[in-house]
Amino acid sequence: MSDIETLENDLLAKIDAASTEAGLEEVRVAALGKKGAVSERMKTLGKMSPEERKEMGPALNGLKTRIAEAIEARKAALEEAALEARLASETVDVTLPPAPEARGSIHPVSQVTDEITAIFSAMGFSVAEGPDIEDDFHNFTALNFPADHPAREMHDTFFFEPKEDGSRMLLRTHTSPVQIRTMMTEKPPLRIIIPGRTFRCDSDQTHTPMFHQVEGLVIDKETHMGHLKGTLEAFAKAYFEVDSVRTRFRPHFFPFTEPSAEMDIGYERVGNEIRIGQGEKWMEILGCGMVHPNVMRNCGLDPDEYQGFAFGMGVDRLAMLKYGIPDLRDFFAADARWLEHYGFDALDTPSLWAGLSR
Ligand code: DAH
Repeated sequence: MSDIETLENDLLAKIDAASTEAGLEEVRVAALGKKGAVSERMKTLGKMSPEERKEMGPALNGLKTRIAEAIEARKAALEEAALEARLASETVDVTLPPAPEARGSIHPVSQVTDEITAIFSAMGFSVAEGPDIEDDFHNFTALNFPADHPAREMHDTFFFEPKEDGSRMLLRTHTSPVQIRTMMTEKPPLRIIIPGRTFRCDSDQTHTPMFHQVEGLVIDKETHMGHLKGTLEAFAKAYFEVDSVRTRFRPHFFPFTEPSAEMDIGYERVGNEIRIGQGEKWMEILGCGMVHPNVMRNCGLDPDEYQGFAFGMGVDRLAMLKYGIPDLRDFFAADARWLEHYGFDALDTPSLWAGLSR
């Protein structure tokens, strides 16, 4: 066997025996690297006689090519094997039960919606819902917004492309249209709350284009402002889990209520903390009022027979206040660390008897 054949067999055996990409690289350097066995042989060509070189040149070049090819082939095989092994080890059996440590949490918006629902259901309210995509009638007209009234613009509405008849659907700017849907389909007495998504073209630390409200509506034969105040004061105490809350009803304007008010609650700042209930400062938490007779008429109810009150509150803002969350935009950033920090235990259902939050 010639010297070249011996070297070739030896190198091919080493290539074959290399079981890792790093091991194979060592063999390559030892053969084809600057000081490798094959490269050293190539260097001897210069000192050879022309006849010798004629014979050894092609022989050595052939050796070099075959070794390089064998290394490439082995490398491809090793890469393929590594991929196979990885695929095998990373297989996910989707039929397995969830791992006990993989725990989700309840988003503060869901938690607060559940808390508000628990409070009002204890007062005899039931939950109603309506569509996110509304028409002008339910979102504005039936709620006594005059055509071209600036109150419509106040709402920064997202409109869809006009339909053939020129009318435009919109993303509801508040949950109040569900008042209309309920009054048009159900007979009083009514006592409902309406949690849901709402949309306005707005974004900063305390506004996001999608946000959440809870609406309330009570319709009966002898409903007055005292009922409204009592209901909302009881709500504020229960929600903030304090024994007493200072409240203030400030006159305001909403097209769908008359009279209308905003409810403020007392608070004080102690260091970094906001203490709700007492203190000298006022914070607005909801809008409310007695249902406007025009709204009743628009829904086919006789305002001489029925009266009612309504209110609407921002869920996200109530969550920020109660749980000390500084930026509303984080609510919808889907950051798992944020959710882990501010989220709630999925097994703790808020109730008035077991406690709203723990
Ligand atoms: N819809 C109002 C808003 O989004 C909130 C509101 C105020 C709702 C007064 C009511 C109400 O039902 O009576 O700004």
